[in-house]
Amino acid sequence: MGLKGKTIVLGVTGSIAAYKAADVASKLAQAGATVPVMMTRAALEFITPLTFRSLTHQQVYVDWYDAGSDLAIQHVALANQADAVLVAPATADFLAKLVYGFADDPLSGTILATQAPVLVAPAMDGHMYDHPATQQNLATLRSRGVTIIGPEQGHLASGLTGMGRLSSTETILAYVKMALGRSGDLAGLRVVVSAGPTEEPMDPVRHISNRSTGRMGFAVAEAARDRGATVTLVTGPTVLPDPVGVKVARIRTALQMLDATQSAVRDADIVVMTAAVADYRPAIQAEQKMKKGPGDTTVMELVKNPDIIATIQGDFVKIGFAAESEDLIRNARTKLAEKRLDLVAANDITAPGSGFAVDTNKVLLVHPSGEVEDLPLMTKAEVADVILDRAVAVRQQRARQPVVAG
Ligand SMILES: Cc1cc2nc3c(=O)[nH]c(=O)nc-3n(C[C@H](O)[C@H](O)[C@H](O)COP(=O)(O)O)c2cc1C
Repeated sequence: MGLKGKTIVLGVTGSIAAYKAADVASKLAQAGATVPVMMTRAALEFITPLTFRSLTHQQVYVDWYDAGSDLAIQHVALANQADAVLVAPATADFLAKLVYGFADDPLSGTILATQAPVLVAPAMDGHMYDHPATQQNLATLRSRGVTIIGPEQGHLASGLTGMGRLSSTETILAYVKMALGRSGDLAGLRVVVSAGPTEEPMDPVRHISNRSTGRMGFAVAEAARDRGATVTLVTGPTVLPDPVGVKVARIRTALQMLDATQSAVRDADIVVMTAAVADYRPAIQAEQKMKKGPGDTTVMELVKNPDIIATIQGDFVKIGFAAESEDLIRNARTKLAEKRLDLVAANDITAPGSGFAVDTNKVLLVHPSGEVEDLPLMTKAEVADVILDRAVAVRQQRARQPVVAG
């Protein structure tokens, strides 16, 4: 899954942002991809082939007719081998070439010949980007199935601020993973994920919340996306940015999360609830900031929030998380039965490297059969993939169950 073992042809064109392609090449290689690089002649003015050769340990291609290049033997070899072709940065000039189907260098020729997904990340001066010619070229490419990544608003090499900045490496990689996942095992399925804490207001400046950061749920949403699912993420307050290609509903309170989740799960196939929803909320939300009283103690009345995971019903696979500080398995079994779940991921928040605000998690998977899987400490992305594997297994098991005629 992901980028490991995939061949991503990286095209680099003559933009001032070409130096950023070194980071893209490096991160793709670090993620386990094979990254042959194809540069236009103009790109050589901005960055050298040696940089890419050193980062990727792969050949760098510039000319069709270079006698030392394997393309001189089989000129569409990389077009056939590629799992995806990514052009980052893509100049205005190169976009125009793609529209007209030129093939006067290995990169444009490879894009014409490949059956793999093609992604382009434009980078240029704001006026070049806004020009009707560029806009029309982008629209044409999009209509042919090319994925356009960005560009973003920000500081441009011209000194101006505007549209035309190359998207970040993280965003570019997310698009590549999403493109690779189109035919993944969750293709055609709808996955709903809840994440983060909720905030239950006491007055205009204070609230009751918890230490959830949303990382686990965001990891599940991204993993599902990268396996081809259409993903909706309902999240409480978090500093994490919206994951690329995921529909995000940002809410604050448990009641808002209930509303957003109920409408999101209507046509869901898999629902994974990782959110740390407050069990209680203040009975009264003061309109003005509450003042300190004369006494040394005070009492606040709390009312129970709805149990979201128990409330949502449907034909979907339903997976819950249980963050516990004691009696992990017993609490998880209770949750599994009471809320009629297909799986509980019980999360030992006292284990080192586990729980809130870290990128790893120590999880026990508790199944309705009574089976308990003790997973080792893993990254949250790895935990997410195991959970989705189990969701797929539940769906397969349901599909095998004979339908009893009425
Ligand atoms: C200093 C400098 C920076 C440039 N930066 C960009 C750029 O960011 N985006 C762009 O579309 N063109 C840029 N250009 C223009 C391209 O280099 C030019 O259109 C070139 O023909 C592109 O060739 P290619 O598309 O084959 O790589 C720049 C030119 C110069 C001299």
